[in-house]
Amino acid sequence: MKLLSIETSCDDTCISIFEVKSSIQNAEFKVLANSSNSQIKIHQPFGGVYPVLAKREHNTNLPILLEEAMREARISGERRSSQRDGVRKAIPQQRNMRAESARNPGLDLIAVTYGPGLEMCLWEGVVFAKNLAEKWKVPLIPVNHMEGHILSVFGKDKGKFKIPKINSAKGGVKTPMLSLLVSGGHTQLVLTKKWMQYEIIGETLDDAVGEAFDKVARMLELPYPGGPEISRLAEGARSFSKRRSSQRDGARKAIRPQANMRAESAETSGLRLPRPMLHSKDFNFSFSGLKTAVLYLIRDLVKKDPNILQNDKMKMQIALEFENAAIECLVYKTKKAIEKHKIKTLIVAGGVAANRHLKNKMQKIKNIEIFFPTKELATDNSLMIGIAGYLNYIKNKKKVPKPESIKATGNLRL
Ligand code: KG4
Ligand code: ZN
Repeated sequence: MKLLSIETSCDDTCISIFEVKSSIQNAEFKVLANSSNSQIKIHQPFGGVYPVLAKREHNTNLPILLEEAMREARISGERRSSQRDGVRKAIPQQRNMRAESARNPGLDLIAVTYGPGLEMCLWEGVVFAKNLAEKWKVPLIPVNHMEGHILSVFGKDKGKFKIPKINSAKGGVKTPMLSLLVSGGHTQLVLTKKWMQYEIIGETLDDAVGEAFDKVARMLELPYPGGPEISRLAEGARSFSKRRSSQRDGARKAIRPQANMRAESAETSGLRLPRPMLHSKDFNFSFSGLKTAVLYLIRDLVKKDPNILQNDKMKMQIALEFENAAIECLVYKTKKAIEKHKIKTLIVAGGVAANRHLKNKMQKIKNIEIFFPTKELATDNSLMIGIAGYLNYIKNKKKVPKPESIKATGNLRL
């Protein structure tokens, strides 16, 4: 069967088309098309996502991406040529909608993100999907974006892929499974005792970790989205520190025990930020205090030297210590949850899963199968929505809710 999936929960408009077959255990996907439009450049001047602009962009780009995806999947026939880029803003929405009102081009199922996310953006995708489902007379399946992130680790952005068998003697995915979801809107630890059932056992009490990365990047006058920028600076500081420490190996060994500092803190020239809630007895997180600590640190440094943010080395040190602190919190609590719930499989997903330091630290955890998404599937995409949509469709024995009952839900929970 052919499946079309749509994602508009934040600032990426994405549409994918797949050929799908087989059952929930071993489902097979072939990516026929994957079209997306990132709004980063539009939101950059605001230092974060500006919801009204995001909604407008989704509205403009959904019909264009649909045409593009149908052409790529070779199910579009003789449709008119792409209107992407410069001229796209001039195209009236109604003219674009005409392409969708044509007969069903051979699609069997539509999956759309209905939450969580920016509600006005989610509505754009949901309404667009409802229109298509009605015109093409195909079932519409609503998808939880966070379940999409969890299942994203099994996907690829090109070619074919299979969802591994669950609890197979040959290895692969085994329950109990734990998912650490780290994105711009969420930081959650999710326990799966039974495949495709989710229990949130810990989450952030304030800011999401990606949000903290973005805010700290803004304090350091780095562009949005800040996660990759902070990560780049921190990696730079780490490799600088490694080079220096190998040069002064002997001397450093003598100093370290005396100062009784962690290796990571030593790397950051003595800058030390808090690790909020590290030793709390639950599996929750807090990143707001860490962000505020960076604010105070920068404020104090600026008092001493008003040009401190022109000092790239200092920026690298702050980025490094912030990344170390944030990732330490994530890794520590994840390890605790793994121990307590005797976890056999760990999934790390969401935009922050693209962070190299997080990956390096997690991969050191022993006796457990760990899955990360590819770089393309870590940040928001419609491929993961297609995977989650199809697996839910099969799981629910092809029963779907009535389209009119599907409502965008900004604060949807797993
Ligand atoms: O999952 P995602 O694309 O969107 C949401 O659902 O929120 O995640 C976006 C977040 C942003 O906060 C971005 O700064 C962060 O993921 N991010 C990173 C990295 N790449 C993206 N954070 C840390 N290190 C990275 N390499
Ligand atoms: Zn996301």
